[in-house]
Amino acid sequence: MMRTRSLVVLCVLVFSCLLLSAAPVPQTSSNQQQPGLFLGTAWYPEQWPESRWDADLQLMQNAGIHFVRIAEFAWSTMEPQEGQYNFDWLEKAVSMAQKHGIFVVMGTPTAAPPAWLTSKYPETLRMEPDGQLVKHGNRQHFDFTNARYREFCRQIATEMAKRFGHNPNVIGWQIDNEYATYSYDPETQRQFQQWLKKKYGTLDSLNQHWTTAYWSQTYDTWEEIPIPVGYNNPGLMLEWKRFVSDTYRSYQKVQIDAIHQYADPRQWITHNFMGWFDGFDHYTVSADLDMASWDNYVGSGHLDPAGQGMTHDLTRGFKRKNFWVMETQPGNVNWHAINNVLDKGEVREMAWGDIGHGADAVGYWQWRSALGGQEQYHGTLVGPDGTPMPLYPEVVQIGADFAKVGDVLRGTSPVAQVAFLYSYDSRWAIDWQKHTKEYDQLANFKSYYRPLRELVDTIDIVNPSAPLDGYKLVVAPNLNLLPEPVAKNLLAFVQAGGHLVLGPRSGMKDEYNALLPERQPGPLAPALGAHVEQYYALDEPVPVAGDFGSAESKIWAELLKSDAPDAKTLETYGKSNGWLDGQPAVITHNYGKGTITYVAAWLPDNAMNSLAKWMVDSSGVKSAFTNVPAGVEVCRRVGKAGDVFIVINHTKQSQKIALPYAMKDQLHGTGSSQEIELQARDVAVLTK
Ligand code: GLA
Repeated sequence: MMRTRSLVVLCVLVFSCLLLSAAPVPQTSSNQQQPGLFLGTAWYPEQWPESRWDADLQLMQNAGIHFVRIAEFAWSTMEPQEGQYNFDWLEKAVSMAQKHGIFVVMGTPTAAPPAWLTSKYPETLRMEPDGQLVKHGNRQHFDFTNARYREFCRQIATEMAKRFGHNPNVIGWQIDNEYATYSYDPETQRQFQQWLKKKYGTLDSLNQHWTTAYWSQTYDTWEEIPIPVGYNNPGLMLEWKRFVSDTYRSYQKVQIDAIHQYADPRQWITHNFMGWFDGFDHYTVSADLDMASWDNYVGSGHLDPAGQGMTHDLTRGFKRKNFWVMETQPGNVNWHAINNVLDKGEVREMAWGDIGHGADAVGYWQWRSALGGQEQYHGTLVGPDGTPMPLYPEVVQIGADFAKVGDVLRGTSPVAQVAFLYSYDSRWAIDWQKHTKEYDQLANFKSYYRPLRELVDTIDIVNPSAPLDGYKLVVAPNLNLLPEPVAKNLLAFVQAGGHLVLGPRSGMKDEYNALLPERQPGPLAPALGAHVEQYYALDEPVPVAGDFGSAESKIWAELLKSDAPDAKTLETYGKSNGWLDGQPAVITHNYGKGTITYVAAWLPDNAMNSLAKWMVDSSGVKSAFTNVPAGVEVCRRVGKAGDVFIVINHTKQSQKIALPYAMKDQLHGTGSSQEIELQARDVAVLTK
């Protein structure tokens, strides 16, 4: 479902392993109007003779493609020797694209430093935990803390910005490509120690917050503090991830500043993230970007609308505004277990899911495969012979779709009444101490998201510290770490009339990844009028029954104890391990003008469906569409002219859908009607 591909494709990884406002639609200084929705592709002119470029661009233009992302791996072509820059070829490519009505997103090439650089300055290479320097020949072999490397990055970004910062056809920049790797070299360790010193001030404070008296871990000097490898002190591990996040932010900022110095402000700056990849805190790394984007790959199997939708909503939450799908698969990838091609029609269905969840662009990776290099088997839009692949006509249709309704969707964005909270700190904390190997917290997250998303047309996924006013329902499926400011944010939301629903393992730890000296959900317990007595990793299912029906809880169950006479038990455990027998599994309590609910069990789909219905009804969340057939997804984007609904039939049969009021299908050009029929995998774009 969510992208496990980071485990597979990034073979250079040293560790194992996606208020609202519209995305900026900047004005270009060229006469060409930017489309309302962008269709695009990654194009690598440096891999092909110049004589071929025009034919490629013509084929792109025929498909309705309006952007190419280029240059993000072309460092050795742009700077073949230290300080010798060659951008003439790139400038030709950009102006040739312009002749075909194709805008350019310029990638900085810093994920792939050239061989002259890493051989002359081997300190720019990253170090594996075992002390080995990574060799040239792959990508992401750089050391993100290395000052010399950062200087090279600043220089290439500066030279590119000088050359293309005023180019009317360049609309934006992508910094680097899919940040993923760390370095374990002594200088990185020194910087980590300095970072800790700045944060904690004294070793006493650090030792206390990390409980280093445990196993004699006490640090007497900053220099003793290691980079964690494998399982280590939970406080140290969390701070390392935060350091990595700040370091990627500063690594990126070097290039952002270089570009800002020479580029027109209309040129936006993004980075292409990898969905749920957890190598760093994406809220931190997004902070200096104008817009987030992500690379949306299914990998093996087929489109999972809830999984995809959830990842879009996550990415939209990084900047709390529309985003781009910078890369997506043209049929198949080359890095998964089974690299099957998506079914006919599925790529278009997927593109509309992107747009429905707030993407303003869909870019295919890639246009044509390089004849050599590591990705020869990856899907493309044209073959090695330069003629269209079987998928090409489907992309032509997407181009026609976008041209037809681009203006209807221009400047529109999803607007939600429901928010999910997602925190990297909690993600890491649970994953490091799962307590049962079955605890897949993203599966738990999705067990809430899927049934709720079937009832409501939009869900935001936001940082727990984000402003929550405007939401009626806030769901926190995995909020394990609960720093005080977050607890205050949540309490204020409930006090003002919101409904907060907490999932299992909530409110257990403080901001240092230390256990709170109180029972879960810590500072929220008084408002809940209940607390968690004990948690149980389950080896056998536990029956539950109550307002959400009878079901079997698996994987995890917590024993709740009511502390307030008016705290209401909604679901109760049946006979199981003795401890849980007859005890509350779900408790709800009114607090201020709102409500707080704790779901202590990992509930199966049937109970989650009823819980979702109750959450929506009891929170006063309204959706225009009701009784939507199973497998049909409704997405809403809101603009000045009102609501635009994107309705996608994810099933393989035609479906009749009753509309809440008479609407026009702008995609099929039909007149006003109160019902539509959608063919298998087809889409409607509906307005009043
Ligand atoms: C990533 C990278 C691309 C390419 C694709 C292949 O998203 O950004 O360079 O490797 O994967 O799926």
